[in-house]
Amino acid sequence: MTLRVVTVDDLDAIMSLERRSFPSDAWSEQTMGTEISSAHNVYLVDEEGGRIVGYGGVRALPGGADADIQTIALDAALRGRGRGRMLLRALIARARDRGARELFLEVRADNPVAQSLYLSEGFVELARRPRYYQPDDVDAVVMRLDLRGWAAHETQENARNAGADAGSAPAIRAISDDSVAAHGSDAEQDGSDAEQDVPDAEQEAGT
Ligand SMILES: CC(C)(COP(=O)(O)OP(=O)(O)OC[C@H]1O[C@@H](n2cnc3c(N)ncnc32)[C@H](O)[C@@H]1OP(=O)(O)O)[C@@H](O)C(=O)NCCC(=O)NCCS
Repeated sequence: MTLRVVTVDDLDAIMSLERRSFPSDAWSEQTMGTEISSAHNVYLVDEEGGRIVGYGGVRALPGGADADIQTIALDAALRGRGRGRMLLRALIARARDRGARELFLEVRADNPVAQSLYLSEGFVELARRPRYYQPDDVDAVVMRLDLRGWAAHETQENARNAGADAGSAPAIRAISDDSVAAHGSDAEQDGSDAEQDVPDAEQEAGT
């Protein structure tokens, strides 16, 4: 997998994945365009053979104490192989690098796969928002990750994996945060240089 920072040229491909991944509550093209263009957000895309097969975004205002995972999705044909986790970790690392100490997200109560992923990365459930997702009338589970704890865990993981096959790790190519800029309903309301489990996104590091 190859992760890089989004550009506006990626919008069509992202929208195609968005509509397939969230059939009942996909964001509009306008919302997504605003999301990926915002300097407050970092959106990454996962490429395979030059094709965008995944994307995700985090909102992390520089200097802000908290950040939000805005959305994450992977082509259905490529799910269940660890790519979603790598993408999520890249987003978490971006939030951490922007100085955030806590990371929040909302996930549909009827999405056990995503919840399991978040729980396994250390997110904990904070609250439920009844009927948050419309038109499906599905509750939102609000989750929080302590980024300082996550960073410590990541450091241990990296140490454990040192010397492992680098070829299995995804490359990260950051283009520019300037060129770009969840899946929460929040984005509808308005709306780094990935490293994730990788040492440094800017360096085509592997995750
Ligand atoms: C959520 C999503 C990004 C996860 O990506 P993925 O590549 O499928 O997930 P991974 O292979 O990295 O698996 C990570 C973890 O997710 C969970 N998971 C993955 N597939 C699962 C399945 N079929 N059943 C239950 N849990 C599953 C597991 O906890 C897994 O960890 P493990 O492999 O150690 O057991 C992807 O499934 C997706 O795009 N779903 C549709 C869009 C979506 O729901 N986005 C989340 C919005 S909040």
